[in-house]
Amino acid sequence: MKLSVSSLIFALLFSFLLETSASTDENFLQCLTLHSGNDSISKLIYTSSNSSYSAVLKFDIRNTGFSTPSTPKPQVIVTPSLISHIQATLNCSLKHGLQVRVRSGGHDYEGLSYVSPVPFGLLDLINLRNISVDIENSFAWVQSGATVGEVYYWIASKSRTLGFPAGLCRTMGIGGHFSGGGYGTMMRKYGLAADNVLDTHLIDVKGGGGGSFGVIVAWKIQLVPVPSNVTMFTVKRNLEQNATKILHRWQYVADKFDTDLFIRVVMTGINSCQEGNRTMQASFNSLYLGGKDKLLPLMQEKRTEMSWIQSMVYFAGFSSEQSPDILLTRGPSILYFKGKSDYVKNPIPEIGLEGIWQRLYEKEASTAMLILTPYGGRSEISESSIPFPHRAGNIYKIQHLVSWSEEENAAPEKYVNWIRRLYDYMTPYVSQSPREAYLNYRDLAIGKNNEGNTSSSQASIWGCWM
Ligand SMILES: Cc1cc2nc3c(=O)[nH]c(=O)nc-3n(C[C@H](O)[C@H](O)[C@H](O)COP(=O)(O)OP(=O)(O)OC[C@H]3O[C@@H](n4cnc5c(N)ncnc54)[C@H](O)[C@@H]3O)c2cc1C
Ligand SMILES: *[C@@H]1O[C@H](CO)[C@@H](O)[C@H](O)[C@H]1NC(C)=O
Ligand SMILES: *[C@@H]1O[C@H](CO)[C@@H](O)[C@H](O)[C@H]1NC(C)=O
Ligand SMILES: *[C@@H]1O[C@H](CO)[C@@H](O)[C@H](O)[C@H]1NC(C)=O
Ligand SMILES: *[C@@H]1O[C@H](CO)[C@@H](O)[C@H](O)[C@H]1NC(C)=O
Ligand SMILES: *[C@@H]1O[C@H](CO)[C@@H](O)[C@H](O)[C@H]1NC(C)=O
Ligand SMILES: *[C@@H]1O[C@H](CO)[C@@H](O)[C@H](O)[C@H]1NC(C)=O
Ligand SMILES: *[C@@H]1O[C@H](CO)[C@@H](O)[C@H](O)[C@H]1NC(C)=O
Ligand SMILES: *[C@@H]1O[C@H](CO)[C@@H](O)[C@H](O)[C@H]1NC(C)=O
Repeated sequence: MKLSVSSLIFALLFSFLLETSASTDENFLQCLTLHSGNDSISKLIYTSSNSSYSAVLKFDIRNTGFSTPSTPKPQVIVTPSLISHIQATLNCSLKHGLQVRVRSGGHDYEGLSYVSPVPFGLLDLINLRNISVDIENSFAWVQSGATVGEVYYWIASKSRTLGFPAGLCRTMGIGGHFSGGGYGTMMRKYGLAADNVLDTHLIDVKGGGGGSFGVIVAWKIQLVPVPSNVTMFTVKRNLEQNATKILHRWQYVADKFDTDLFIRVVMTGINSCQEGNRTMQASFNSLYLGGKDKLLPLMQEKRTEMSWIQSMVYFAGFSSEQSPDILLTRGPSILYFKGKSDYVKNPIPEIGLEGIWQRLYEKEASTAMLILTPYGGRSEISESSIPFPHRAGNIYKIQHLVSWSEEENAAPEKYVNWIRRLYDYMTPYVSQSPREAYLNYRDLAIGKNNEGNTSSSQASIWGCWM
């Protein structure tokens, strides 16, 4: 897929501000009915006067910080079930000066798929979620509104030896996830989800507007072989068990292992056995694409063999004994968070790691974590193959995360400031000129264009867009 995925997203995000007037509301709805040539579209349209408007809006909001009374709300939500509904929505939005936000799974860290500072309509793809798997030819067509969990589930329901290399969180939408890269436990062997896209159905600007480039409706994806059993193991070490030294060593090997072996690290504070004493833990979360007999004897910890789909249940945050049916569940949850990302090209010295622990001891960091995901493997994929430049030369990626409770959301600044301080602290240890970041861990603090004046030369200083 050579189409410019990030420029697409970019255009959607920073779309041109059109003349807008709220009074076009009525006309907009009439326009939709007219253009879809079929009254049935009214069953798919919600304005604030529909009682289920709020439930529909909230259903796919993953960062509750963008679901407060003061968050700007869409003037209208359209949940198309046919391609022509999307075309009609784009045409009418263009005509009536309404910006369009497109939502697939709603996991955007900054809520950009369902929040805008200017009057907007929400094109919610929740009803476009068909998945058809062709096992014989090892591909599938999946619509953007389907979730990653559903894709895994339907592949596994037909074959124990095929899978797909996308992310871990089951509720992520295909539309946003694939278009920003999409990585998971098989990235070292098979690359990103986006590396395995064969074709797309795109509705482009000729079919409508709102200043956007287009809406991806469906994706043809290459399925990849997985062994009938994979092996899982997790090793946890706290500071008293030399976590820092082991983590330091991990940086020299994690990207060099055989590509069948994936070992990521979660750095977080834990309450140790002694009451009231806190310590820090590095949890080495591992997946081996093979049976346990083949796994290096140095991995002495408890190892469990299971099907690939069960390993995805585990990495999605459930017990590996849980039925894969859990992957089909979807719906609102409450989580207030801020995330940032970094790429690491040289091992961080022990003293640098100790400084991270120190920051994780701060009280704002009680639920904070850093997730370190190893690179290596498919580093031969060129920086310009698709608009995802983070390839050779990276040892691992870091995701920095902090979260807080609903009560604390009245004043989230102290948490946001904590993660900013951590990010500043990391500066000398991570990629520079430019400091790289993962598009799918959207972080508006990195910078954005001014609404109404998008400029690629201004944007190009961020490096990941060219
Ligand atoms: C809890 C959690 C866990 C995560 N885990 C991982 C992980 O393991 N690996 C990983 O790589 N990432 C991960 N992410 C990040 C995730 O990949 C991104 O948030 C991704 O954008 C989510 O896609 P979505 O469809 O759910 O998002 P949305 O919020 O719906 O969309 C994100 C962006 O894409 C645009 N967009 C959405 N659909 C379309 C479409 N059909 N056509 C055009 N534009 C569209 C939206 O307008 C928005 O700008 C995680 C995120 C969360 C919240
Ligand atoms: C309108 O579209 C629906 C499908 O969304 C279809 O079932 C129905 O027959 C259509 N009606 C007309 C009059 O075309
Ligand atoms: C929302 O309300 C309008 C006006 O009453 C109605 O035409 C439409 O069908 C409602 N939408 C849904 C999804 O029920
Ligand atoms: C949308 O507008 C384009 C260009 O004017 C037109 O060709 C197309 O038929 C329209 N589609 C719908 C569904 O209104
Ligand atoms: C989705 O799949 C169903 C059943 O296979 C089919 O009837 C329907 O037309 C498909 N919808 C789209 C939009 O492809
Ligand atoms: C930690 O490292 C020291 C020195 O290398 C060693 O003596 C000790 O046994 C290690 N502790 C654990 C729990 O591995
Ligand atoms: C807490 O842990 C530290 C480091 O291991 C130790 O020095 C201290 O005695 C512990 N405190 C309590 C109250 O157990
Ligand atoms: C998978 O692993 C389980 C548990 O070790 C084992 O019982 C089973 O025979 C293995 N299945 C295959 C197909 O290898
Ligand atoms: C938009 O950016 C250009 C180039 O930076 C500048 O000359 C122009 O004044 C800007 N326009 C607005 C409305 O800000």
